[in-house]
Amino acid sequence: MDVRIAVVTCSDTRSLEEDTAGQALEALIAEADWTCTGRVVVPDDEDAIAGAIVQAADADGADVVITCGGTGLSLRDVTPEATQRVCQRNVPGIAEAMRAYSMTKTRRAMLSRALCMQRGRTLVVNFPGSRKAAVESWEGVADQFEHVVHMMAGEGH
Ligand code: MTE
Repeated sequence: MDVRIAVVTCSDTRSLEEDTAGQALEALIAEADWTCTGRVVVPDDEDAIAGAIVQAADADGADVVITCGGTGLSLRDVTPEATQRVCQRNVPGIAEAMRAYSMTKTRRAMLSRALCMQRGRTLVVNFPGSRKAAVESWEGVADQFEHVVHMMAGEGH
């Protein structure tokens, strides 16, 4: 089945052309035979990130919105706060699984404040921002995306 995935990179410094993490995720989405509904880069700004999530979920109809970056401890890292603002329900298991898998790669994984939440029938997952971290986070959770879409559609198991 298809999974429609949007990539929202949150960075003050990266342009769309320099967005190597987002580009790697786009390639992984294609490799899985899923659809990338869009890839954008927005600044580390709560309003901008929240707006991009809403656009991807409500207007572009993404099943999954992957944000990339802005999950760390710098005061400019506000992606989890923006996610919380536009989502209703927490899905802690996915963020836990992502960090548990990532901890097998680097202990720095515990420094990511990434959340996973639902906005209606869209899952919003925060990935860390480096290309390596984004790819590893994908490896940790992407195998559940098809089942997530089924369940959000009310189709159960
Ligand atoms: N997770 C994985 N899988 N691999 C990584 O290299 N880097 C960590 C962590 N999560 C990392 C990772 C580091 S160094 C930081 S500071 C946090 O993610 C936050 O990254 P962000 O601010 O780019 O979101």
